Amino acid sequence: MTHTDPKLAQKRAVAKSALDYVEDGMILGVGTGSTVNCLIELLPQVRLKGAVASSKVTEDKLRALGIEIFDLNAVGELDLYIDGADEIDAQGNMIKGGGGALTREKIVAAASKQFVCMVDDSKVVDKLGRFPVAVEVLPQARSYVARELVKLGGDPVYRENFVTDYGHVILDTYELDIKNPSDFEQVLNNIVGVVCNGIFASQSAHIMLKASDGGVEVVKF
Ligand code: A5P
Repeated sequence: MTHTDPKLAQKRAVAKSALDYVEDGMILGVGTGSTVNCLIELLPQVRLKGAVASSKVTEDKLRALGIEIFDLNAVGELDLYIDGADEIDAQGNMIKGGGGALTREKIVAAASKQFVCMVDDSKVVDKLGRFPVAVEVLPQARSYVARELVKLGGDPVYRENFVTDYGHVILDTYELDIKNPSDFEQVLNNIVGVVCNGIFASQSAHIMLKASDGGVEVVKF
């Protein structure tokens, strides 16, 4: 039995809009996830110099299309990073990491001049936190970090049978009261053993492409 993603048409539409920001000769920063997969399918339409991938999954998909993969250390600052998100607020702050690629995504985003975020309208929220915040943790610190997250009001759930590209584990943390995304991102980063967390306020989006049944809206932050 095949399951069709009910949001697939919107994901394809928003990916098509994102292609407008991609220029021939670019080395493009490419995110991870089902929306990005729709973009990757369109990339053969552009003559990229190559790409920096935010995960092994994305890297494999790009290579399969014959797109050259560059090491971020070898290319300096990128002009553009395109990715999806799990939630985005009215300031362009996001929750990401549903696919577990948050650390590499945040690194490539940080090294890029512009972050274009592709979402459908169900992901736009007044306040971040309905979607759990993925906290990537060194395996030995898992239990300690979980206790610290509980002290912050969170309900951490160990992501079973999952190891990140960097060999770490993830605590998906529910019930966090994220009043100030920027401050909260730093509070989580300051817990010993935390590698990265899924709040993208330090690396917020510059442009949101928001798909709905009515088309794709461009929002600049
Ligand atoms: C991957 O780790 C995530 O940050 C994705 O970018 C995010 O989960 C959006 O994924 P979808 O496009 O599949 O919804």
